[in-house]
Amino acid sequence: MADCHTNTEAADAMFARYGAAMPDFGHWNATLATLMRHRSVRAFTDRPIPEGVVETLVAAAQSAATSSNMQTWSVIAVTDAAMRANFSAWANDQAHVKQAPLVLVWLADLSRSERIGAAQGREMITLPYTEMAMVAMIDAALAAQNATVAAESLGLGTCYLGALRNKPQAVAEALGLPAQCFPVFGLCIGWPDPARPSEIRPRLPQSVVLHHERYDISQEAAGIALYDERFTAHQRQVGLPPSGWVARMIERIGTMRGLNGREIMRGALAALGFPFH
Ligand SMILES: Cc1cc2nc3c(=O)[nH]c(=O)nc-3n(C[C@H](O)[C@H](O)[C@H](O)COP(=O)(O)O)c2cc1C
Repeated sequence: MADCHTNTEAADAMFARYGAAMPDFGHWNATLATLMRHRSVRAFTDRPIPEGVVETLVAAAQSAATSSNMQTWSVIAVTDAAMRANFSAWANDQAHVKQAPLVLVWLADLSRSERIGAAQGREMITLPYTEMAMVAMIDAALAAQNATVAAESLGLGTCYLGALRNKPQAVAEALGLPAQCFPVFGLCIGWPDPARPSEIRPRLPQSVVLHHERYDISQEAAGIALYDERFTAHQRQVGLPPSGWVARMIERIGTMRGLNGREIMRGALAALGFPFH
């Protein structure tokens, strides 16, 4: 499989991801091409998703590593238009949620572990601890990302829907979730609308995120300044207001607006059976 594409393809993919040339690493394959082609898709056609696709995506998801093979996640495949309209409303009216024929809701699911213990007459005493909540959320995220890559390899478009956490209790009630089962995020899936394509979003330079041997911020400020310029150019190119990345981070992380009402998360988690002991 390795080297089945040209180095030009590798160089182009790197350029698209960073907005700059990267050192040629000499190896390229279909998996890397799929991963590096990723972009969130927020415009879908009416074309339905063929039978068997959901099962294929879930098989890919279940192929992800899972902490101690505990498999503390579940997923709900939602196609019902009324439910997708609810999700859209709870997610600040994101239109593509109604348009996507399929929304997968990824669950951190400790309820199954509780039932397994109950069937054996055992109390699963570690379930209320923070570590177990982390395990379940990490497992759910790894599974979802495998499904995302699988979907993209089939030509489908995807968009995560973290905004489901704007109303976790409403989502839990609507989907009939038992206690100890938390909707971590949704994943919208459908065929990308070629009339409204999405572009690859450049990422931070590796000098900012990759450290060698020890944490090192010596390149950070320069790397972020460079990225801000590249991201602004990208915003212009795709017709978005050229606010820059740093300004977006200030808005997202430095204001309460950025939390979209999710400051209630600790209470919502406790109400849904995640007390974080
Ligand atoms: C956990 C998670 C939650 C997200 N939630 C949303 C969302 O609610 N709505 C949305 O349009 N995009 C959402 N996204 C997509 C991100 O905005 C997107 O991945 C990011 O801007 C980078 O763009 P790209 O995926 O096109 O590379 C989410 C992504 C992740 C990983």
